[in-house]
Amino acid sequence: MSMNEEKTEFRPLIVAFCCNWCSYAGADLAGSSRLSYPADVKIIRVPCSGRVNPMFILRAFERGADGVIICGCHPGDCHYSTGNYYARRRMTLLFSMLDYMGVENGRTRVEWCSAAEGVKFSNTMNEFCEKVKSLGKSVRLGDIRCKD
Ligand code: FES
Repeated sequence: MSMNEEKTEFRPLIVAFCCNWCSYAGADLAGSSRLSYPADVKIIRVPCSGRVNPMFILRAFERGADGVIICGCHPGDCHYSTGNYYARRRMTLLFSMLDYMGVENGRTRVEWCSAAEGVKFSNTMNEFCEKVKSLGKSVRLGDIRCKD
């Protein structure tokens, strides 16, 4: 690979909504265990996966995200009992609508990750980034007013 090709290699922008009680702690553990995941993953800490409004996801794509992932506590472990069940149902519906609108299913994902699963967090982010990378830049919902 020449220097020029290396410079122009596509790096997807990933937005990861992580719940404070499990996934965010899992991301922290990944960091303190020196497990790597791409720097292009931008983590947004939310109190619970159930707090993620579908509009947040649409807005992320509008603002240039190439992929969006929601990470929460495992089923049964939600700090607020059932927030992740709501998130799962809500996202299933939203992701199918996004797919219909041209934002492929591979660009969206829900994953459960506990505070002890630093390895899982790192593997999930690496895997998700690779998937989004293979899909290329997301242009379907991009708002040209948000471009530089
Ligand atoms: Fe983690 Fe609800 S607190 S998903």
